[in-house]
Amino acid sequence: MQIFLHDKMVPEHEAVVSVFDHGFLYGDGIYETMRAYDGTVFMLDRHLERLSRSASLIQLDLPHLQMIRGAVCETLQANGLKNAYVRVTISRGKGPAGLDPALCPRPTLVVIAEEFRQYPARLYAEGVRLVIAKTRRNLAQALDPKIKSLNFLNNILAKIEAKERNAYEAIMLNANGFIAEGTVSNIFFVRAGILRTPSVDVGVLDGITRELVISLAQKNGIPVEEGRYLPEDICSASEVFFTNTTSEIMPVAQIEDIRYEIGAVTGALRGHYREYVTKYIAGGA
Ligand code: PDD
Repeated sequence: MQIFLHDKMVPEHEAVVSVFDHGFLYGDGIYETMRAYDGTVFMLDRHLERLSRSASLIQLDLPHLQMIRGAVCETLQANGLKNAYVRVTISRGKGPAGLDPALCPRPTLVVIAEEFRQYPARLYAEGVRLVIAKTRRNLAQALDPKIKSLNFLNNILAKIEAKERNAYEAIMLNANGFIAEGTVSNIFFVRAGILRTPSVDVGVLDGITRELVISLAQKNGIPVEEGRYLPEDICSASEVFFTNTTSEIMPVAQIEDIRYEIGAVTGALRGHYREYVTKYIAGGA
């Protein structure tokens, strides 16, 4: 495997980062996960915009976006990949111990691309099981979830809870008990014919898939509400799904002991999403 490190492609065994890198020492850095379909990175511009926002929220000087775009394309080409998982990671860089970002003169840029491993069709056909985690999502005033940062420890703790309870994903509540998001996904549910999802001010990452799903729903006459919801609101839902770049729209069959149908809204949106991807990679979206 070839990895883009700093400013060039290197073989995997040479793609090493210093133990003094502040990404490693302090989790001081940001990242984006993207998906390439048939050689085209889906929504690349939106991911670069969000990367740039994350960088500015942590006052990290990002390499030029054109350079990062080039690095993503070069990584796909060097590995001969068309359908891929792509991750861009940028850390504060190497520097002596201490929290001051000024200790690190140059950020570390890493781009990894791997063959996309398709999720089993069974998950989409039958839906997955979620639990509600005890671990809460970060308080926006402590670490704004809008920053896609390398600090994922509370999401990892929630993922551990999900695994211990044999669930596929965990729903995290915010500090006030409102539904926030999954550990790596945004949550949607349908109740009384309205598609609902926690609003960004609840303290969630404004997922790029989330944004597209909202706009596809609106364009196709499905009413959408972004709001503040308690766990009991989702209990009375008729359909639930989660979204992210790699899974697209994943139907949910069960949360805790409550079961859900994979209903018409989820089915329709999955169709619209697939159509949009096809158009996008053909250059027409
Ligand atoms: N995760 N919320 C969180 C906490 C996430 O980490 C992600 C993405 C999302 C969905 O965002 P998007 O639709 O832009 O992928 C929501 C990616 C997949 C990851 O961590 O690898």
